[in-house]
This record gives sequence, structure tokens and C-alpha cells, in this order.
Amino acid sequence: MYRKLASDVYYVGVDDHHTELFENLWKLPYGVSYNSYLIVDEKIALVETVKGPWADEWLDNIRELVNPAKIDYIILNHMEPDHTGALPDIARIAKNATLIYTPRASDMRKSFYDVDLNEKKVEDLEELSLGKKTLKFVHIPFVHWPETMATWIAEDGILFGCDAFGAFGALNGKHFDDEANMELVERESRRYVSVIITSYFKFVQNAIKKVKDLGLNIKIIAPSHGIIYRKNPNWIVSKYDEWSSPKLDKYCAIVYGTMYGYTHRLAMKLKKELLNLGVEVKIDNVSYSDIGDIITNTVRAGVIVIGAPTYDAFPFPRVWTYVNELQGKRFAPRPVGFFGTFGWGGGALEKLQKMAEEMKWEVLEPIVKVRGRPSKEETEMVKRLAEAIASKLS
Ligand code: FEO
Repeated sequence: MYRKLASDVYYVGVDDHHTELFENLWKLPYGVSYNSYLIVDEKIALVETVKGPWADEWLDNIRELVNPAKIDYIILNHMEPDHTGALPDIARIAKNATLIYTPRASDMRKSFYDVDLNEKKVEDLEELSLGKKTLKFVHIPFVHWPETMATWIAEDGILFGCDAFGAFGALNGKHFDDEANMELVERESRRYVSVIITSYFKFVQNAIKKVKDLGLNIKIIAPSHGIIYRKNPNWIVSKYDEWSSPKLDKYCAIVYGTMYGYTHRLAMKLKKELLNLGVEVKIDNVSYSDIGDIITNTVRAGVIVIGAPTYDAFPFPRVWTYVNELQGKRFAPRPVGFFGTFGWGGGALEKLQKMAEEMKWEVLEPIVKVRGRPSKEETEMVKRLAEAIASKLS
């Protein structure tokens, strides 16, 4: 199957309904698409390949339009294998094609794939004429790998944004924003941004600024995952801008674990106190919520509060997993609160405090540390913590 974006420009990508976890980490309840595009001009250019196991279906899509042996250029905006896994398959057929990518991508390509094709390393804003259409390559490093670029067709106003402006969710024949369920698209693109790109928000902001400064008259944004924006390309640009903004939102996220319900009691008390103070709350129990959803719910929270019982002298393991993600994804600094319970020696809250010190996050007082079940006085401490949180968000 293919879809037409503009004269001689086609979508030839595939849907993946098979992979359970993207990067073997993140849930895909609605699948995912690997977008690839074909430009049929005097020269034929392919933008991106697909994940390896989908090569046959993808090649069939291309064959509906051209003989793949006649492809002149294979443009690799990004080397991650979800977009390059089928490179060896097309390299065996399009033997005269030239690989186009950034200088940084060259070594990466050689480390991943031993293919016998010529390469052309393109500098930032370098152009390549295909005949009637001219491609311009816009380097957008660290969105979200160092070698990434976007490809621009001025004649059609199409920006192939790579992972930028992408989303989870298979397309199922609804390839464009005027065909798709945009409520679902918004949810799945926000989750995609939060779990894949959070570490690189600064670079997303740089890329958006760069595209704006170039003054491109964008009519279509065609990312490497998810729907293509032809009705309102500015919508996804403004959403990405908002989601990657250094200015956090005014709500409190509570993330907690519990074994026998004592830490849960503290979490519920804190939620109640915050709601009484008019504070918006998002709350996740790590034993029930998906880790990708927890990251999405917390990444823009003005205050995060973490609750954990002690387990083997460490925080409850799933809380610790979340904390590792928070550190690895370089969440922007913000005030953080802690509460937790222990049976004898403790250790959870001490480890969490150390993490906050290392990240240079402000720790809100009081830290609510409870042995066994919370006493009346300890429950009152939660009220004071809620007041401290409310004052930070006012
Ligand atoms: Fe969709 Fe970074 O690969």
C-alpha cells in the first residue's frame, strides 16, 4: 500500500502490530508505524527504510510505484535500526543507489551494516537536485541521536522530520491528520516524546528554533513514526514545543509503591490534602501503572513526590526503577518530596535523598518517614508536606 503526499511524493511505510515493546521497553497498545517515503523525480529517492522484519511488505509497497532497482538515493535521516533495519534488503536490490546521511552517520552506518553502496555525507543545509525537486538536508543533532537530520522539499513544502514530530500508533490506512483520531494521536505522541526524547528536550527546542529561523513554508510534516500532518502541521510543532519546554506545569505528581498498604495510606492522605488545597494531582502506583505512563505523567510536573517502603535496604524496586529512569532521562530540576515506611532499619528514603542531592533538586520538608503504620503525628506531617508543595506551585 502507498499514499500520495504530493505530486510524485509517496508514503511507502508499514504498520507494526507485532512488537509488544518499542525499544523492548515501551508498550505499544496501538502498534507503531515505520514511515518511509518515495520521491519519483528524474532521480528516485527513498527517505528512510523500515525495521528489518517488515522489509518484504515495504519492498512490495515500493514496487507498486517503481522498480526498486532503479532507486538512485537512499536518504537515512537517522541510523536507529527501526529506520535502517531493512537497509541490507534494499542494498541487495538497488545496487547503484547512493546513501545520503550526515558525516556523523557514516561511522555509525558502518558499525551497524556492511552494505556495498556508495555514500554521500551531506553538510548542514546542503542541497541535492533530483530534477524538478531539490532536497535540502537540515541537521538536527540529538533528536534523539547525534547523527540525525531532517529532509526538506521546498517545491512541495514537505519536511521529513525523522523522529521529530513522531508518535506511537499504527496508521491502519488513516495516514493523515484529517483522517486520524486526533485525541489518540495527541496521547500517543505525548507518550512517545516523553519516553523516547525527554533526555534531549533542549535539542528539540533547538531544532524547532532552527526550522522556524530558516523560514520554511511548511505545508506537510512527514515524520518517521505516526501520522502525516497536512491539514495543520503547526499543531504538532506547537505540541512538541510545549512538551519539551523548560517551563514546567503547575501540578503535583505522586509516584509511590506499597507492599502492605502503609505507604499507600500516606499517598492517599497526601492526595487528599493537596486536593483540599486546590492542587492538581496525578498519582501512580508503580505496581499498577505502566512505567512509560508514569514517565509521561511526571515529566512536566512542577513538583514530584516519591513514596516508597524500604525493600532490602533500598526503595521498593519498582520505585527505584522509576528513579533510575528519572535520572537517565535527565528530568529538569524541580522540588521533590519524599515519604515512606520501613519495618526495622530503613534505607529507602536515605537513598532517595542522596539521589536528589546528586541531581541538585530541592527537597521539600518534612520528609515523612514512618516505622510500621503511620501515627497521628506522622499523618499530620503529610499535611505540612502538602502545604509546602502547594506553596511551590502557587
Ligand atoms: Fe524511531 Fe530513534 O528511531
